[in-house]
Amino acid sequence: KLPTKVTIKEVGPRDGLQNESKFIDTKDKIEWINRLSKTGLSYIEVSSFVHPKWIPQLADSEEVLKSIQKKPGVTYAALVPNIRGLERALNCQVDEISVFMSASEGHNKQNINKTIDETFPVLKEVVDEAKKANVKVRGYVSTVIACPYDGLVAPKQVLKVADRLFDMGVYEVSLGDTIGVGVPTQVESLLETLLKHFPPNLLAMHFHDTRGTALANVLKSLEMGITTFDSSTGGLGGCPYAKGASGNVATEDLNYMLSAMHIETGINPEALIDSAFFMEEKIGKILISKQMEIARNE
Ligand code: HMG
Ligand code: MG
Repeated sequence: KLPTKVTIKEVGPRDGLQNESKFIDTKDKIEWINRLSKTGLSYIEVSSFVHPKWIPQLADSEEVLKSIQKKPGVTYAALVPNIRGLERALNCQVDEISVFMSASEGHNKQNINKTIDETFPVLKEVVDEAKKANVKVRGYVSTVIACPYDGLVAPKQVLKVADRLFDMGVYEVSLGDTIGVGVPTQVESLLETLLKHFPPNLLAMHFHDTRGTALANVLKSLEMGITTFDSSTGGLGGCPYAKGASGNVATEDLNYMLSAMHIETGINPEALIDSAFFMEEKIGKILISKQMEIARNE
């Protein structure tokens, strides 16, 4: 039986813009987030507090977070890699943070310069300090299906990392198919393993659509009881430390599918598509989503 209600977590301003070669003006990022706030989305990951040398596209996270108009009822989150990042985020009154690591050694090392075992204490410190500041923490596990360096990743390995993150006290784990290789049968075995240990309401799915399988994977996840999905307006996104990774599933395509299946999302499709076209103009290249294509041809 399918769920009747789903939460979409918009990651475009973070996952989307971190992968664009062009630096988007701070004022345009702010305007975009303000527009996204009016679409009915309840959660927006607005930026990250990683090292600005590693992700220069989001070096203005302080200003973005301080300048957006926060709409009551919307959670404004940011990605944080370590205690230095947490300090920066708390200084801007972030509502919530996300910590992140990979299920595979290869990607973890490339992305955050540490082994998996070296990463746990770094994240634990972040979670402990965030909790002291009354800030909730979400956990991401990347490369849950395959790693661009190590190949296929076993569900057991994902379970191990997710388990450690829950032990630290994250309230939800988002499972990322970072390079968008996964297909529904793989999502099924992954979730079969994880759902033996955690209820579906504690897991979110984060699909990149590199090979066009993201919505099929969403459907499989829905069938298995998952009710939270990450997506990016305009299908923006990717990880610069995972070669070939392309955009997240587009929020407007995900929202179309869910709404047409009578699954409530609370999101206004027209407002969403308007905000996608706003960012398309600022980026200066055609963004790829089916809903944008349809709107362009109308
Ligand atoms: P490092 O070089 O090993 O850091 O980078 P370090 O701890 O050795 O520190 C070196 C210097 O950087 C120090 O300065 C620190 O203060 C400074 P110094 O003392 O030499 O002057 N520093 C910082 N400055 C500002 N903000 C900070 C910060 N941290 C250290 N937060 C680090 C380690 C983790 C920082 C680096 O590797 C990094 O920033 N990586 C981020 C990579 C990234 O953002 N990747 C994309 C996001 S993950 C993703 O997209 C996947 C996801 O979408 C899910 C999916 O799709 O699978 C979430
Ligand atoms: Mg991602």
